[in-house]
Amino acid sequence: MWSGKNVLLGITGGIAAYKTTFLVRLLIKAGANVKIILTPSASSFVSPLTLATLSKNPVVTDFEKTEAHTTDWNNHVELGLWADFMVIAPATANTMSKMANGACDNLLLATYLSAKCPVFFAPAMDLDMYRHPSTVASIEKLQSFGNVMIPATSGELASGLHGEGRMAEPEEIIAHIHKHLLAGLPLSGIKVLITAGPTYEAIDPVRFIGNHSSGLMGFELAKTAANLGAEVYLVSGPTHLTVDNNAIHLIKVVSADEMYDRVHDHFSDADIVICAAAVADYRPKTMAEQKIKKSDENLELALVKNKDILLSLGEAKKQQYLVGFALETENELENAKEKLKRKNLDAIVLNSLMDKGAGFGGDSNKITFIDTNSNIETFELKTKAAVAKDIFNEIIKRRYA
Ligand code: CTP
Repeated sequence: MWSGKNVLLGITGGIAAYKTTFLVRLLIKAGANVKIILTPSASSFVSPLTLATLSKNPVVTDFEKTEAHTTDWNNHVELGLWADFMVIAPATANTMSKMANGACDNLLLATYLSAKCPVFFAPAMDLDMYRHPSTVASIEKLQSFGNVMIPATSGELASGLHGEGRMAEPEEIIAHIHKHLLAGLPLSGIKVLITAGPTYEAIDPVRFIGNHSSGLMGFELAKTAANLGAEVYLVSGPTHLTVDNNAIHLIKVVSADEMYDRVHDHFSDADIVICAAAVADYRPKTMAEQKIKKSDENLELALVKNKDILLSLGEAKKQQYLVGFALETENELENAKEKLKRKNLDAIVLNSLMDKGAGFGGDSNKITFIDTNSNIETFELKTKAAVAKDIFNEIIKRRYA
């Protein structure tokens, strides 16, 4: 969620400014790009050099760059448009009052007025200043403009007094913004369950029956769902892929039987379920305890059918929006529609092996999305990341629009 996001941090002149060094470190660690504007008095409380080093960007205070009298200047409009969101921390009584009244006598205020992105502000001041009717009025006015306050907390203040007015800790600031941004996303509060990858069916302790599925389609679906605000449970067979998003719970399995159990563990309260795994249809009837020796010319393996996970979910389905995949080589539409009905799905994603670039190898896919009303959407060949977005667009259109 923070990865690649442009965060504009405005620091004003209060003692809590020293905490922003930790805030910058946390933002950078989370993958955000950070640019910083200081008000003229803020540099008395925190060093621009420290902030520039931590943020890996020049820290700006004035419209003029250090080499004055050039046409090159710190453009507040550009900075405002660059930001995906702006955080003003600490927000002093002075800056809040100016923001509330449209004053514009420094670069931070001019940038705030130019910014079109969500703006968060974290007040910090002594308790009587925080309680003063003019501060309360500034905060109310700022909120009425759509700015989001990260409330000050109670504790020991720089004055030695105890009370409300401490700036929220950097971790709390991040958590607050995270929660707020998540709440605006279309799948916020939604639980998504996804299967991915191949399954390995053991023949003996060192051999298995498997397939070439990379798991990429399922992992891209998980990433998309998490970016749309969902809590994701990703049950995956063996793959080299990894997950770096806290909203994705990766549950690793090996065999189809194991996948069946883990999927059912998470099914009852799921809202959207997508089975993208290439589950082995059969497994060896028995697994040899010891490595099988190559004694005979021929070796016959007795196989038994695995449980169809998707079919079992269709039978158990209540509130879940259930989506399956179908990989077909002939009569694609008819076969996919038949599977949709037989497995009691809400939609099926058809891959045709007749389409070049489709299927479970590689990083592209070409899909047709079919729902229970026989609405058919056909898409171009795309990356699996783009396909995942198309699939969730179709689901959201039908379930949450
Ligand atoms: N699937 C599953 N469990 C299985 C087999 C398949 O959950 N044991 C799911 C896949 O994840 C996919 C869909 O079922 O979503 C595709 O099934 P597929 O194997 O193509 O279809 P089948 O119904 O098994 O029919 P056939 O193999 O005869 O085409």
